[in-house]
Amino acid sequence: KTEWRVGVAGLGTVGGGLLNFLAEAPDFAPAGGRAVVTGVSARSRSRPRPFDISNLPWFDDPVALATSPDNDIFVELIGGSDGPAKAAVEAALNAGKPVVTANKALIAEHGAELAALAEAKGVPLLFEAAVMGGTPAVKMLREAMVGDDVKSVAGILNGTCNYILSEMDSGGRSFADVLSEAQRLGYAEADPTMDVGGFDAAHKISILAALAFGCAPNYAAAEIEGIDQVALLDIQLAKDLGYKIKLIASADRSEEGVLVRVHPTLVAQNHPLAQAGGALNALFIEGIRIGRIFIQGPGAGSGPTAAAVAADIADVMTRAARPVFQRPAAVLTPFVPIDPARS
Ligand code: HSE
Repeated sequence: KTEWRVGVAGLGTVGGGLLNFLAEAPDFAPAGGRAVVTGVSARSRSRPRPFDISNLPWFDDPVALATSPDNDIFVELIGGSDGPAKAAVEAALNAGKPVVTANKALIAEHGAELAALAEAKGVPLLFEAAVMGGTPAVKMLREAMVGDDVKSVAGILNGTCNYILSEMDSGGRSFADVLSEAQRLGYAEADPTMDVGGFDAAHKISILAALAFGCAPNYAAAEIEGIDQVALLDIQLAKDLGYKIKLIASADRSEEGVLVRVHPTLVAQNHPLAQAGGALNALFIEGIRIGRIFIQGPGAGSGPTAAAVAADIADVMTRAARPVFQRPAAVLTPFVPIDPARS
């Protein structure tokens, strides 16, 4: 196939970045061929946008776009764990169409059933952009770590919270002021409670846990505490003691199961996670054979996240086929939380 027709549902920060990228570089994929946007869908057609959609076929209903015979790949950038995003992804998979999504809530909460559907239909379901958008954490766990047994993953997975904590630490700015800047930069979720309440980081670590341990994502079992109770005084006292406060998301495996947690955490100032400032994301992966790996980079924003979506589109074009969570959905280990009272 020389031309891959891409339907894009959701035209926010990431959708705009993807449209711009594919317009500039439709032949970016290493396998050759061109990726061309041949249909778009969003809540409002007429809303002012910093990119032009007037020449693109428009679909009011994302399910109609997802199942349209005029597209070969469906890209879901609507967001939200249920509603139109889920309906459209299911419809595309049922129609035997490859799906690329940036939707962490959807994969964290319904990943196991969607993986089973994708594998039953023999089509890829890819979500590199759902976690650390732009920094290849998903591909690293799914592809590079298959020769190892991962013991734990831990890091900073929400750029908005890291930005707020970093700015509060360097002093002078209020929580609300920094949050509105994160919204302006396209980092924050439409509902910023998802960020500051720790829920977005919990979605992402649930996905990484599933990839790391070959288990079904189980967001409902995550322990979640956000940064909404962190006061400037906490940050100053931590500093006096040689620490920074970071929102750390972690997943640890033991014989009893997988423990997934998100908490504000004291991190020693010379630790790499303490030095990931601004809106950076950072992640440690510890494997039995490889030892420790550390990656750091962007986790949000139009350009980086669109690049992650494009990388998945390129994978579809190369027909790289593998189970969604490392092991076929039918044999995924159940994700059993460790009883925190016992640890
Ligand atoms: N709201 C998210 C963040 C966007 O701040 O990291 C990327 O998932």
